[in-house]
Amino acid sequence: MLSYRHSYHAGNYADVLKHLVQVAILDYLLQKESPLCYHDTHAGAGLYSSSSEQALKTAEYEDGIAKIWHSDSESALIQRYLTLIRSLNPEQQLQFYPGSPKIAALMLRATDTIQATELHPSDFPILQSQFSHRRFSRIENIDAFTGLKAMLPPLNKRGLVLIDPPYELYTEYQDVIKGVTEAYRRFPQGCYAIWYPVIERDAIEAFINGLVRTGIKKQLRIEFCRSADCKGFGMTGSGMLVINPPYTLSALFEQTLPELQRLLGQDGCHWQVSQLVGE
Ligand SMILES: C[S@@+](CC[C@H](N)C(=O)[O-])C[C@H]1O[C@@H](n2cnc3c(N)ncnc32)[C@H](O)[C@@H]1O
Repeated sequence: MLSYRHSYHAGNYADVLKHLVQVAILDYLLQKESPLCYHDTHAGAGLYSSSSEQALKTAEYEDGIAKIWHSDSESALIQRYLTLIRSLNPEQQLQFYPGSPKIAALMLRATDTIQATELHPSDFPILQSQFSHRRFSRIENIDAFTGLKAMLPPLNKRGLVLIDPPYELYTEYQDVIKGVTEAYRRFPQGCYAIWYPVIERDAIEAFINGLVRTGIKKQLRIEFCRSADCKGFGMTGSGMLVINPPYTLSALFEQTLPELQRLLGQDGCHWQVSQLVGE
């Protein structure tokens, strides 16, 4: 079942958090000269238009990127993220929003590798066409968890693995825990960033506990809830569980999340940056 299309949600407040974390990690990894690998398990279409039929229907980006597009924020991370998006929108009008593989393509050097898997029969060719001229790229129309087994460890022995499932099926939470455990065994020095939605607090705590119980060390939780936790009203927030985070990440998000709260928060907005498992 593949009913999820990210074009309905691109640029929403959950994308803003996810992509800020992605940008912060990649910037950290880019400080070293040796080539790195970016692996995107659920890559989506890569590029989205705010005038697409899907974006016009939900207008979710209006409560996300559109609210910070002309932001006065002094956060260096928010400004860095906006600079990347502005490079796609030279007229200063917010027309295009980059998905995670496109953000990686905008940031990485020619010698770095981009690997991505995407199953959707309509989104895959759109994604693939954006990488046809890039030398070190491997874009596959295969299942995310098959891809983790087949494509890790990467030749460049350092990098970021972004895991961003739609969680349409409840079994996907267990798939992520199992997939991450296997991927970490193959590539223990990699940084992993796992996106999760906050829909029902108890369920998400059980998922986080499942990741903690894998025994994998160095897990950092970065969560931004736009409104108060609420049962039965859909997503109220989202988070990123980062394994092997850059040592700078925790302090950076302690500074950035109050800014996001000011720019995107509603009544009951709350956030956390928590070290779940240390060394
Ligand atoms: C949340 S979207 C990805 C958004 C993207 N990571 C971004 O930030 O721009 C999830 C994507 O996963 C794809 N997908 C769903 N199940 C999958 C699977 N088992 N393997 C690979 N891709 C899958 C969907 O088609 C969808 O495009």
